[in-house]
Amino acid sequence: MNTHRLSFPQVALDFMNHDHQEFAELREKLLARIATGTTAGIDVMLDELHAHTVRHFADEEQVMRETGFPVYEVHKEEHDGVLADMIQRIALWKQDGDLGALCHWLEIGVGEWLVAHIGSMDTVTARFAAAKLGR
Ligand SMILES: [Fe+2]
Repeated sequence: MNTHRLSFPQVALDFMNHDHQEFAELREKLLARIATGTTAGIDVMLDELHAHTVRHFADEEQVMRETGFPVYEVHKEEHDGVLADMIQRIALWKQDGDLGALCHWLEIGVGEWLVAHIGSMDTVTARFAAAKLGR
């Protein structure tokens, strides 16, 4: 579904680029499913998006700790905020079943956040960590 495709920069660590691509694809898949007007499978896809995000953030945070990233707390705080919001949005969806609200959050909220986060926090983090790791 090219209509929902996000454009974001590549960062200096491959595993992060791989995770960002997977996250973007999960979001696209969800938006494509929502566009069909069916709710079938959406809960499972949202749980998958959440599990992927938990693991992806944990991996980034581990690299930051291992390389002594100086503003670890700032990056970690943003991750924690995004995860808390995601948990709340998914719970709200499961409670209200509001497809429009879910679509808006994924399209705008998640989409804009991902592009901004990769272009700022992740770019700086990956550059720092790659230099420390000699990659
Ligand atoms: Fe990040």
